[in-house]
Amino acid sequence: MSKVVAIMSMSLDGYVADLNDGVTEVFDWYFNSGDVAFHAGGADPMTFKVSAPSAEHLRALWSELGAVLTGRRTFDKAEGWGGNHAWGPAFVLTHHIPAGWPRPNPNVHFVTDGIESAVKQAKAAAGGKSVGVHGADTIQQLLNAGLLDAIRVDIAALLLGSGVRLFDHLADAPAVLGSPRVIAGIGVTHLRYPVRKAGSNDRAS
Ligand SMILES: NC(=O)c1ccc[n+]([C@@H]2O[C@H](COP(=O)([O-])OP(=O)(O)OC[C@H]3O[C@@H](n4cnc5c(N)ncnc54)[C@H](OP(=O)(O)O)[C@@H]3O)[C@@H](O)[C@H]2O)c1
Repeated sequence: MSKVVAIMSMSLDGYVADLNDGVTEVFDWYFNSGDVAFHAGGADPMTFKVSAPSAEHLRALWSELGAVLTGRRTFDKAEGWGGNHAWGPAFVLTHHIPAGWPRPNPNVHFVTDGIESAVKQAKAAAGGKSVGVHGADTIQQLLNAGLLDAIRVDIAALLLGSGVRLFDHLADAPAVLGSPRVIAGIGVTHLRYPVRKAGSNDRAS
């Protein structure tokens, strides 16, 4: 069954971007944490240079994903991924479809009728694989609506001090998560937590 999985790089003090929306520091591990090349794919293919454990983590993650769900700010910052996201069809939550979109390339879709509709559409497009989610505000909405199945955070060995926080505005805090799976890379620790549904005591990952 298709799962909805938040995927974010985060500083140890909880920020996913700096005060100017910059991700250079939290994304540094993708480009400078080892000698193993990982080809990310997409319209504007990037090659990451990571440690062996991070490369294994990325290979497993990429094979699990079939679609992506983001907020409009992430779409804007990423300049629309050149119209083709590496994880598959992209669904972008927005109140206003940007000028010049949608483009003839059908791989970026705009959703204006809410988070539940976005999840439904992304799951349908994922072909049984998981939907990866980017964007702090979007992830908070999914948590608050009980629509998120797992949180994957790549904790960069970094204290940013300020910026965009991943876990602001939670409706049901404290929220107890399941036990994490942990992969130690170099300069980054990959964590995967199951999100427990209301009434569940299952803590397995
Ligand atoms: N560290 C990482 O791994 C990582 C990954 C991705 C992004 N980022 C960073 O995270 C930041 C973006 O996250 P964010 O939390 O600021 O924003 P976001 O979740 O990407 O986008 C939020 C925007 O999406 C639209 N939206 C959200 N929910 C909606 C709904 N239910 N209905 C209609 N429109 C909706 C709204 O835009 P409109 O009202 O304008 O339509 C809202 O302002 C940026 O700084 C980016 O660089 C970091």
